[in-house]
Amino acid sequence: MSQPQPVYLSDYQPPAYRVTHTALTFDLDPARTCVEARLTVERHPDAEAGTPLYLHGEQLTLEAVSIDGEPLADDAYRQNDKGLTIDAVPAAFTLETRVRIAPEANTALEGLYQSNGMYCTQCEAEGFRRITFYPDRPDVMAVFRVTVIGDARREPVLLANGNPVERGELDGGRHFVTWEDPHPKPAYLFALVAGDLACVEDRFTTMSGRDVTLQIWVEEENLGKTDHAMASLKRAMRWDEERYGREYDLDRFMIVAVNDFNMGAMENKGLNIFNAAAVLTHPDTATDGAFQQVEGIVAHEYFHNWSGNRVTCRDWFQLSLKEGFTVFRDQSFTADSNSSALKRIQDVAFFRTAQFAEDAGPTAHPVRPESYIEITNFYTLTVYEKGAEVVRMLKNLVGWDAFRRGSDLYFERFDGQAVTIEDFVGCMAETSGQDLSQFMRWYQQAGTPEIDAHGEYDYVNAEYRLTLRQRTPATAGQQAPEPLHIPVRMGLIGTKSGHDLTLTLDGEKRGCDTVLHLREPEQTFVFTDVAEAPTPSLLRHFSAPVKLHFPYSREDLAFLLTQDSDGFNRWEASQRLAMLALNDLIAAHRNGVEKVMDSRVVDAYRTLLDAPAADKAVLAEMLRLPSEAYIAEHQPLVDVDAIHAAREFVRQSLGFALRDAFETLYRANQSDEPYAPTPEQIGRRSLKNVALGYLMAVEDEAGIALCQAQFDAGHNMTDVRQALTLLVHSGRDDLSAPALKAFGDKWAHDPLVMDQWFSLQVSRPQAEVLDRVKYLMAHPAFSLRNPNKVRALLGTFAQNRVNFHRLDGAGYTLLADAVIELDRLNPEMAAGLMTPLTRWRRFDDTRQSLMRAELERIKDRPLSANVFEMVSKALG
Ligand code: PHE
Ligand code: ZN
Repeated sequence: MSQPQPVYLSDYQPPAYRVTHTALTFDLDPARTCVEARLTVERHPDAEAGTPLYLHGEQLTLEAVSIDGEPLADDAYRQNDKGLTIDAVPAAFTLETRVRIAPEANTALEGLYQSNGMYCTQCEAEGFRRITFYPDRPDVMAVFRVTVIGDARREPVLLANGNPVERGELDGGRHFVTWEDPHPKPAYLFALVAGDLACVEDRFTTMSGRDVTLQIWVEEENLGKTDHAMASLKRAMRWDEERYGREYDLDRFMIVAVNDFNMGAMENKGLNIFNAAAVLTHPDTATDGAFQQVEGIVAHEYFHNWSGNRVTCRDWFQLSLKEGFTVFRDQSFTADSNSSALKRIQDVAFFRTAQFAEDAGPTAHPVRPESYIEITNFYTLTVYEKGAEVVRMLKNLVGWDAFRRGSDLYFERFDGQAVTIEDFVGCMAETSGQDLSQFMRWYQQAGTPEIDAHGEYDYVNAEYRLTLRQRTPATAGQQAPEPLHIPVRMGLIGTKSGHDLTLTLDGEKRGCDTVLHLREPEQTFVFTDVAEAPTPSLLRHFSAPVKLHFPYSREDLAFLLTQDSDGFNRWEASQRLAMLALNDLIAAHRNGVEKVMDSRVVDAYRTLLDAPAADKAVLAEMLRLPSEAYIAEHQPLVDVDAIHAAREFVRQSLGFALRDAFETLYRANQSDEPYAPTPEQIGRRSLKNVALGYLMAVEDEAGIALCQAQFDAGHNMTDVRQALTLLVHSGRDDLSAPALKAFGDKWAHDPLVMDQWFSLQVSRPQAEVLDRVKYLMAHPAFSLRNPNKVRALLGTFAQNRVNFHRLDGAGYTLLADAVIELDRLNPEMAAGLMTPLTRWRRFDDTRQSLMRAELERIKDRPLSANVFEMVSKALG
């Protein structure tokens, strides 16, 4: 087999042929669906006559091909496993093809496939070429007319993009529906769904008074689980009108829930297809976290209607153009509809764990990559989340007004076009009048920049000098990264008074909160008229995706924990304080010294518990210890066992020292009111459940009784799942085994609850987890073909730090075996699953060689391009 070759951004060429109209007819059949395509094609004015026409096409059985009604002679075209070349074509013509495909055999879940008997499609990024021969690239945009023919009984519902324009009965119990989408779109936004589905319908009146029908299509038994998604959709539609002036542009908007889906959801024009996990909720089956996630994903996909669909990407290197902007938009929406400090805390905690790890590993890449082998490997945290951070910085640099005007300009100027990141940033430069050329480096350089900060207070002159030094680590693609334009939002707090100090910089008064523009490798900012010695509050709201180092003492942090006027940075202080204690304990563990809990940290937590908190959800986050993965990101070499031992020690110490306070907190936040996913209730449950975690860390009967009672009460999934997780993780098998069984029996019919059942069992720290994973892989509810199951069981296990990184290497072997097997079914999922193995360089020698050996073993197999790219980067 020839080695897969990379594609380069620098090789971009505009398409030689445009498709203006695409007419498709699907005659559905599990084994041999017939797809007829009629394409109206035009040579681009700049392309030379005689340029061959190239059409992508994979795994298609070609039955007929004609131009302007004339079948092509056998020697008029050439076909290989990637596509079809037709040498001589006129300047404008109609191309007709007929192919056969087998949806039932499609386990990769790209193109047309079957899930629970229903037909559905996934075309982003390059799935359309598995449906028909086509110039499958986002800069070819056509108007689609689609006829779907199916069995009237098995597939009573036949959906595609746009509006239904015709329907009718056919012979042999078949029927058809024809759909038209008036908005030109790239092939990756095409969608088709057919099956026995039920729908919940609602309406929305747009800002200009147009009436839109909203539909959520699900399997019959899930009809009671769509309320939250529908409510979220309507709020998102209103928000996009109010915040961005964006109105919906079709008569109907449809969401379909499918069980087998590689990602969260997909923004196909007018017909979004969702992983069932990203749309279905019910208080009995979904946690608060799931409710929040559904809200965010529904909004995200809806927002793509403008940022992605009306204005799309020129090529896949520009992926962050739509994803970074749209993630930023969905984050802002969630922040507006809930506690905004909480949203920022959750996003940043996740970002600094997962994206930092990606940026520090062998698959690190810029927000706009310069090359790829397999584009599905680039739907990454860097493109999505770091891309969103970059857009957020842009907004903060130019200010909301100029940003909004820039956004309006972008949508107006590029409506119906496929464009680049320069086009987007260019609009912001234009409306703000700012020079953003240095800022563009954020899109071009990989790696997490670090800022070393230090400050000096000069009593005599009442000056505070803050020096910031930036460095970006070299990564595979960049040996000499250049200085970035980094917005550092900050304030100074009087250490004695506890008050925010007014900032005077270069003679200019800036209020109590300002943004420093760090552009040079090193810059010193001199604040004048600083009346008392300050404690700096730096990088407020995580104003840039960097690691910021400042020599904070425990006293400084305990001070900021309560005195910082910025809620986000109060949380940040809690995390830094915990990290100081954890680092000492990690060192003690490594050196075999007895571990002693720092009483200053205990006191700081006591203060938090004593003070009445305005935002319960934020308090809960402050009480939550940094995760093992987060701690690992801040270690030069990851010591898995020491991290685990240190974190457990802190958990227990805090539990013992503050037991009564936690119990009071727990009881004060218990409630019998009917479940609602309101910020108020979510905050209360979150706080209560954090407290329960500490009570369970103490391992006394009283805590266990509370936990068991919470499980038995079965009030809602948030409480039940936390109680069950704590029981299972406690190692008390006399309690956890019956609880697990009861839960598993009760929910055996509900795949989304069974996902939770799988994952909470394999995230426990006890060593028998490895055998449990193997046992559960044979469970009737498990299937390697279902991505949610793979994530729940194998993905979760690979995040179980102590067990995945067992010193006998059995965790690595298990994962590698699964990757090899899964690669034959679903390469995209297989490549994602192996990510933890690629991070081998971060561990000790023993683990490094064990992980390497598994990577080598994978590499020796016949591989998909997806896994090949991952494994070569990991070993390269
Ligand atoms: N474009 C989708 C989103 O972010 C994600 C996706 C990518 C889904 C590729 C499926 C396949 O909203
Ligand atoms: Zn998206």
